[in-house]
Amino acid sequence: MRIISVVNQKGGCGKTTVAINLAAALGKLGKKILLIDMDPQAHASLGLNIPSEMISHTTYDLLIEPRLKLSDAVCELSENFHIVPSSPVLSALEQELSGKKGRENHLGAKLAKSDGIYDFVIIDSPPNVGILTFNALIASNEVIIPVEPSYFSLDGLNRLRETLELLESEIDHTVVMHILINNLEKRTNFARDFVHELERKHESILMQNMVSHSVRYKESALMGVSIFEMSDADHLHKEFLAIAEEVEGRSNILDMENIRNWMERLHGPRVVEEGILFSIDAPSAESVYLTGEFANWSRNGISMTRDSYNGLWQVTLHLEPGEYEYRFIVDGNWIRDPKNNDTVVNEFGQENSLLIV
Ligand SMILES: Nc1ncnc2c1ncn2[C@@H]1O[C@H](COP(=O)(O)OP(=O)(O)O)[C@@H](O)[C@H]1O
Ligand SMILES: [Mg+2]
Repeated sequence: MRIISVVNQKGGCGKTTVAINLAAALGKLGKKILLIDMDPQAHASLGLNIPSEMISHTTYDLLIEPRLKLSDAVCELSENFHIVPSSPVLSALEQELSGKKGRENHLGAKLAKSDGIYDFVIIDSPPNVGILTFNALIASNEVIIPVEPSYFSLDGLNRLRETLELLESEIDHTVVMHILINNLEKRTNFARDFVHELERKHESILMQNMVSHSVRYKESALMGVSIFEMSDADHLHKEFLAIAEEVEGRSNILDMENIRNWMERLHGPRVVEEGILFSIDAPSAESVYLTGEFANWSRNGISMTRDSYNGLWQVTLHLEPGEYEYRFIVDGNWIRDPKNNDTVVNEFGQENSLLIV
């Protein structure tokens, strides 16, 4: 499952246009697509005219409610095209989550639990770098950065590169970048110079295909459809199909092993063939145990072993459907599962991790 955020902190550079039409184009190539609207302005949701009776939950609910699964929050626009719509209330999330542990991991954790359901998850993001954008970046292994031929949008690009470098150095999360030029008026000298400048500075991450300037994109957004629903726009259909094919082809620059490891690290416990896999990243620990209701909260708990392959301490349990509270004991210290945002406060005022099977 490839998870791609469309990000640029500059507003109006085409994030939503690219997110909607790329998602639609990948759908045309037969891929199973999820589009997640992470912008409180909800332009992607509006731009696809989702019937209101179809919407029971939004991105806000998905991020704030531990018990809500991704599958409960999606609207099925067609068998292969699902969307999690946004709503203005999403703007309250920054404040509600500020100061909370793991606040940037909510989206990633939900997606990691649903790994493999979609071929592509495309995330439309807001025009600033706050908790919402960090949730998108941490959930993603790739970003598409739309830039318009203007030097302001290069500024957004440079700042985003800095943010991504920070993610890499602070939490060891690599996000692969693709720059997509949008709103290009090919015939102007300025546009030609701009493209050359980008090729010179960012060649390896610049996409070959570009989105041209056309009023049809604006019209399609106003009509609440993708460009593929517009008649007399064959050249634009071709344009986005070529972009989708290029995006698909760029999988060759991804380190899939690294991506799988990242998904693993984002997870709380998850279902595997043999039961429920618990894992924790504790590279310097001497001993790690799992304890909880299923082990009568024994301080000896259930011994975990270090996987030589990915370095995580792991154990797999068979558990019947239900709710379970648990903690890890790392070198004698009782801790909550740092990868699981779902917690309940126990009688000692500490947080137990909560697992719902
Ligand atoms: N290639 C394009 N040609 C013409 N208009 C475009 C193009 N890309 C975006 N627009 C228009 O520019 C405005 C901003 O685009 P949008 O995708 O909403 O940007 P963002 O999501 O980054 O704020 C919208 O009105 C959109 O229809
Ligand atoms: Mg937008």
